Amino acid sequence: MGNCWGTTPVTNHNCPAPTKPSAPETTGNRGKGNRPGSRSSSQRKQKEDDKTRTRMEKDETAMAPPSEQIRAISAPKLFTLAELKSATRNFKPHTVLGEGGFGRVFKGWVDEKTYAPAKVGVGMAVAVKKSNPESSQGLEEWQSEVKFLGELHHPNLVRLLGYCWEEEQFLLVYEYMQKGSLEKHLFRKGAEPLSWETRLKIAIGAAKGLAFLHTAEKSIIYRDFKTSNILLDGAYNAKLSDFGLAKLGPLNGDSHVTTRIVGTYGYAAPEYLATGHLYVKSDVYGFGVVLLELLTGLKALDTNRPSRQHNLVEFAKPSLSDKRKLKKIMDPRIAEQYPLEAAMEAAELILRCLESDLKNRPSMEEVSETLIKIKDMKEKPRKSKSSCSNGSYAKRQEESFRHHSPFQYRHGGTGYSGTNSLPSVYRFM
Ligand SMILES: Nc1ncnc2c1ncn2[C@@H]1O[C@H](COP(=O)(O)OP(=O)(O)OP(=O)(O)O)[C@@H](O)[C@H]1O
Ligand SMILES: [Mg+2]
Repeated sequence: MGNCWGTTPVTNHNCPAPTKPSAPETTGNRGKGNRPGSRSSSQRKQKEDDKTRTRMEKDETAMAPPSEQIRAISAPKLFTLAELKSATRNFKPHTVLGEGGFGRVFKGWVDEKTYAPAKVGVGMAVAVKKSNPESSQGLEEWQSEVKFLGELHHPNLVRLLGYCWEEEQFLLVYEYMQKGSLEKHLFRKGAEPLSWETRLKIAIGAAKGLAFLHTAEKSIIYRDFKTSNILLDGAYNAKLSDFGLAKLGPLNGDSHVTTRIVGTYGYAAPEYLATGHLYVKSDVYGFGVVLLELLTGLKALDTNRPSRQHNLVEFAKPSLSDKRKLKKIMDPRIAEQYPLEAAMEAAELILRCLESDLKNRPSMEEVSETLIKIKDMKEKPRKSKSSCSNGSYAKRQEESFRHHSPFQYRHGGTGYSGTNSLPSVYRFM
């Protein structure tokens, strides 16, 4: 680990791997100390300088050979609001891909080389996340996103192509992920079921993403691992998005960092909730929860289930070490496909990730290696009785979808899709 994936760093872009960014100011085109939202004249001047720098880079790019051109634009670009308006057709509602606590995410189009706004279907698609002025998440998360994602490159981290702040608005521009979030595929009504192999492929990709963060020279704790933050490309490769809550790991031999407790209920590790002490292994707990969601097809937290089953970890844990019980809680949509031994191994891995003593949790490198072995385990597909036609379980699942009411939730993200929208998480800050 610790490789810098992607392209050669350019003048304003320090690839941090194996050394990671120390502060947002080191990233991209931004001037030191700039804080969006309250621009002084010196900040405005800095912004002008930044714009000039961006233009200069483009000019240099124009003279470079084609391969250099692509490399030179690998640094996140400082977009103007006008450019992003043009790329998204003025943030038209029908370009909305989803909505989270930060704001809405729009689909736009830009030129592949210069990132200049392009017509629909021309160049490459991008996802533009735009802050909602009423959101409690804002500047801080925007800065964190630029600080971390702007400098980290790995096949399992979504790429931040650029950013913008203007008129009190913060925006982030990402590579477009064709298949959207894992949350959508697992929980949205009518979504095509994910096969056992695809679930493992996604889990492995996400595990590698976390392992990359944890094993960099200065470890990064992701802190918000959940299905809505795992995005999928056209081939179901998983990439982590949303570094708004990410934190640099402990330094000087410390075991943890102390933080304000923020995150999403159902995924946060018990020691973090109890003390605010955040460990690298706190992410491993969150991974265990997501792996459990992948196996069962059930949400980490769902008040539409019977009260004793609201919390997935609490209710499913006792079934994970028993083959017969495990079969009962496996997602009926994959009932006939998975090798039972492999599912047992996965269940054991989940239990290890969910250990209350974090010393007993595996590292994310170990998790990804174990998952690769599990994926390679082959067994003749069994004829299972508990297939989709198994009335009670499938029915319960269906009921759970039907009774979602966005008004019962403290809203953390919807995966906005008009009438099909999903209240996804309980977020706490
Ligand atoms: N790069 C992207 N490509 C395609 N779709 C995206 C991209 N980024 C986000 N989305 C879509 O937008 C939705 C909202 O994402 P966002 O990260 O803002 O919120 P969330 O993860 O649902 O909630 P939270 O605020 O708790 O993180 C995602 O679920 C996904 O459907
Ligand atoms: Mg998110």
